[in-house]
Amino acid sequence: MLLPSLYGLHRDGMLPVDFRLLGTARSELDDAGFRDSVRTHLEKRVPANERDPANVASFLARLDYQAAAIDHPQSAAALTDRIKSLRRGDVLYHLSTAPRFYAPICALLGAAGLGNAGTRVMLEKPIGHDLASAIAINDGVTAHFDESRVFRTDHYLGKEGVQNLLALRFGNAMFEPLWNARHIEQVQITVAETIGVEGRGDYYDTSGASRDMLQNHLLQLLSLTAMEPPSQFDPSAVRNEKLKVLRSLRPIGATEIATHSVAGQYTAGAVDGVAVPGYRDELGRASSTETYIALRAHIDNWRWSGVPFYLRTGKRMARRTTEIYLQFRSVPHSIFAGSGAAVEQNALIISLQPEERIELRLMHKTPGLDRSGLKLSQVALDLETSDAFKQAPRRLAYERLYLDAIEGNGTLFVRRDETETAWQWIDGILDGWRKQNVVPKNYPAGTWGPSSSVALTERHGHSWRE
Ligand code: BG6
Repeated sequence: MLLPSLYGLHRDGMLPVDFRLLGTARSELDDAGFRDSVRTHLEKRVPANERDPANVASFLARLDYQAAAIDHPQSAAALTDRIKSLRRGDVLYHLSTAPRFYAPICALLGAAGLGNAGTRVMLEKPIGHDLASAIAINDGVTAHFDESRVFRTDHYLGKEGVQNLLALRFGNAMFEPLWNARHIEQVQITVAETIGVEGRGDYYDTSGASRDMLQNHLLQLLSLTAMEPPSQFDPSAVRNEKLKVLRSLRPIGATEIATHSVAGQYTAGAVDGVAVPGYRDELGRASSTETYIALRAHIDNWRWSGVPFYLRTGKRMARRTTEIYLQFRSVPHSIFAGSGAAVEQNALIISLQPEERIELRLMHKTPGLDRSGLKLSQVALDLETSDAFKQAPRRLAYERLYLDAIEGNGTLFVRRDETETAWQWIDGILDGWRKQNVVPKNYPAGTWGPSSSVALTERHGHSWRE
């Protein structure tokens, strides 16, 4: 996603005129070798109609490469020398590597005098694997780059649909008065994937769905859905409100996990009619890592008191979908009860993937002259973004994120306190699982998770949307 995004910004003239990119990794490549590998990569990743030879050539001309290994002092010094020789103005260091290297890399840059004003650092998730490791990484990074110059990515925040959640909530007058426990009965946030671990088993097995998806993407979606209106769309105002939501999450620990959480792991099955192996077969060894997690969460504040937020994410599920579902409460009294017409609850569905759409479920008179009285049907007011904005090209999440990081705007990046608060909550759940010896329940690939996830909602009179 990274190089195609930078290419997209270059093609559309959105990068600063004197922009240069210096790639670095352990691989021994020279500038020409790096440019060749980027060209091959772009050919695979960027659709042919968005890639013309002149633009690709002018993009490649902006790239350089320096091989380096952080644990090899000479090559590390060669890297910092190269940065100094190329530097003309601001520098954005994007660390897309294992998080254990973040602090040492920042220390290297700091010691070389390359962490001063005008420099920023962009970090990929995960920031550590628990609260303690996140604090250690954040301490190491902020010793050289103050927080305002640290840009922690969560690529979900770069997605159009996620930003549109803010537009929907705070650009319209009609939703906000209903956006609370008086009118909303339950909320479901689903991030379901059909892919497996795709050759990333070694990373994924130490992580699982809770650390890989829940700690970051789902909790970001939850924060944006549940937060109070920020006074303006700026980094402090938005992140302060998200943080309040995370701090209001009721802990789920050893005594709650049996009733509030479900862990699952996929076994062999079929996705879209194609047979796929189970997680352990993909990994090549036994494992008790969860590839699915579902939770019943609560936000203990005035707005959301008593409203369950059901969260779930998993790999090898029945269908790829990312959506937020808000079910409204029933009408207080049905005037149609006499004719036997059922009044179903209204719902708002905000789909982010695979397509962006917003659907409002309403009750409507069923047309006709029924003698026994009025009949009702549920219909949807349905807005598909691709229809409404036909001309707008679909942008990659990282295009937005790079643009903002280059311009120093942190609104769509995760602040230190957010990531640490999220880890604290996740640590409680994982600790609860450990104390209660929770082992993930099996679910066949291509289904909606273990059967016990049904009980998580049905116990409270709710059902997952499928
Ligand atoms: C990443 C996770 O952060 O998000 C992956 O590490 C996951 O495991 C991916 O597949 C999902 O992103 P998207 O944009 O495809 O929903």
